[in-house]
Amino acid sequence: MPRDPDPPPAKRFKPGSPFSRLDKKKPGMLLPRAGHAPVNVDAQRKQLPIYQSRTQLINQIRQLHSAVFIGETGSGKTTQIPQYLYEAGIGRQGIIGITQPRRVAAISLAARVAEEKKVQLGKLVGYTVRFEDVTSSETKLKFMTDGMLLREAIGDPLLLRYTVVILDEAHERTVHTDVLFGVVKAAQRKRIEQNKIPLKVVVMSATMDVDLFSQYFNKSPVLYLEGRQHPIQIYYTKQPQSDYLQAALVSIFQIHQEAPASHDILVFMTGQEEIEALARTCRDISKHLPESCGPMTVVPLYASLPPAQQLRVFQPAPKVPAAPQTLTPHAEPVLALTCCLCFTGVQEGGSLHKHRRNLHHYLRHQIRDRHGDGESQTLQSRCNLASVILQLLALGVPDVLNFDFMSKPSPESLRTAVEQLCILGAVDRKDDHVSLTPLGKKMACFPLEPRFSKTLLISPDFSCAEEVLTIISLLSVDSVLYNPPARRDDVLAVRRKFISSEGDHMTLLNIYRAFKKVSGNKDWCRENFVNSRNMGLVLEVRAQLRDICIKMNMKLESSLSDLTNVRRCLAHGLFMNAAELQPDGSYVALDTHQPVAIHPSSVLFQAKPACVVFNELLHTSRCYMRDLCLVDAEWLQEAAPEYFRRKLRATKS
Ligand code: CDP
Ligand code: MG
Repeated sequence: MPRDPDPPPAKRFKPGSPFSRLDKKKPGMLLPRAGHAPVNVDAQRKQLPIYQSRTQLINQIRQLHSAVFIGETGSGKTTQIPQYLYEAGIGRQGIIGITQPRRVAAISLAARVAEEKKVQLGKLVGYTVRFEDVTSSETKLKFMTDGMLLREAIGDPLLLRYTVVILDEAHERTVHTDVLFGVVKAAQRKRIEQNKIPLKVVVMSATMDVDLFSQYFNKSPVLYLEGRQHPIQIYYTKQPQSDYLQAALVSIFQIHQEAPASHDILVFMTGQEEIEALARTCRDISKHLPESCGPMTVVPLYASLPPAQQLRVFQPAPKVPAAPQTLTPHAEPVLALTCCLCFTGVQEGGSLHKHRRNLHHYLRHQIRDRHGDGESQTLQSRCNLASVILQLLALGVPDVLNFDFMSKPSPESLRTAVEQLCILGAVDRKDDHVSLTPLGKKMACFPLEPRFSKTLLISPDFSCAEEVLTIISLLSVDSVLYNPPARRDDVLAVRRKFISSEGDHMTLLNIYRAFKKVSGNKDWCRENFVNSRNMGLVLEVRAQLRDICIKMNMKLESSLSDLTNVRRCLAHGLFMNAAELQPDGSYVALDTHQPVAIHPSSVLFQAKPACVVFNELLHTSRCYMRDLCLVDAEWLQEAAPEYFRRKLRATKS
């Protein structure tokens, strides 16, 4: 597609538009654009800003134990540095591990590097993410999520298989990253003390705010990389926009009217609902524009869209794709509009970076300055650390409450995390000493949130392990339900046959069973608005969880048509997420006594169940419970009598 060689001029943003030119970042070393002709990957590698600094960089890193490395996004840090190290023979005795906060990034980066090295993915270059291991004994460049390296450290606290660990995207810090940094730092120190092959640590970031990393890794030197692949001009709104959707719309249509027709616009939104809503509005408005404006093609893009629909963004056409905030654009010359908002999950018992289904709360955060307002610290202190603590204990960290976190979580959140694990029966606490119970040890073997691993572990007592495996797998991937808003009525009509009056978990179970009955037939998926790709992931996740169960000699039985046991098992595992109907028809969460409501997406939305357990709380205008299961109040009592006695006392006092 031909492109205007000039960046958008400042005058494009008229007075009255929310955008104005505030800062023109120094473009650094400008490189010729690759254009759209097929370019071979070797030539592309040589065009990257990092290529010029290659020799110098290798020499510096060779001499250092730890280094912090800064360079603009797209300059080639992630794909090139591991290759440079490998090619220079640094760390050849072991594996060069590169950690990523996001699963998709780990996968696509490994694929890209394998392509550049002209090897089959899984051989020299591979990746491991939760529920997927594409590596072999030959793998020397290994991309992985933060969580996976942490998990490996459980069996190998000195990370002896690795000679280099690259902690990438360090600016996107999560609780996982923080713990990982601590574990890597300890491994590095102990390997020196024990005269083992040293572990090189490279921290990489796209932002300048790296003092903390440098300090933490024994004041390691900070290396800067100049330059970026494409010129970028940044425009900011003059004032904070309270109605950012409106502001985005105004800007979209202004650009659409003024920019050449070949220009694409990429708009980042916070999630599926917002993307669909904006796409609808854009389509409506574009129908009423004068013909001189040219046509507008609007293409939504988010993870739960079927793959074929996601690929539409790559088809050439004038368009306004809308994408979730987390998608990193590749350094292409497009006009990107971002509202600087994202959903940040704050969840009970897990890391921030788990996919949305695992997030317990959603909070909408206005990011004023992602580079330095301490966002991650505040998020972290609000985030429940239960699953992190469980992992640390499984790693053999002796004194979890005094672990060397890069930024310490508040004592209060640490206490809450430990208390939750106590209630779940995963840990014992005597004064300041916290230790794993036999149940906790088993729980740590599953790559799941503590409450889910507990539910799975107790499922044999209710003779329904097969069903619980299915339900937990369904909850561990992005939604298997595909809900195109334009076809709402059709969706409701076909879904009716799966709906269970016992709640969302049982409804999902029905859908899974129907899917299995037709052996995952693609037409069936399309007719029933089931996302077949995500269902495929469910099957994989389930198979892997089932393997772990088998290794633990768990008795895997099916409760067949009687689902009472399954619900009872969920009540026993998720009792901390329970709510009860009040005389006035509202609901109250039993743990916190806060008012909660049934989310409209739940099959129980129209019903008035007396007592439910739920998966997550969604904080918007109200506090909504998502994914509900009908339970008996007695089951909750039998699951945790002491806990509910205490809750009752708390309400009375
Ligand atoms: O890490 P950093 O943001 O500095 O850059 P990178 O991820 O190493 O990407 C360097 C270049 O590799 C990008 O500009 C893309 O041209 C290419 N790349 C790609 O084609 N596919 C990927 N999955 C990642 C990178
Ligand atoms: Mg990178």
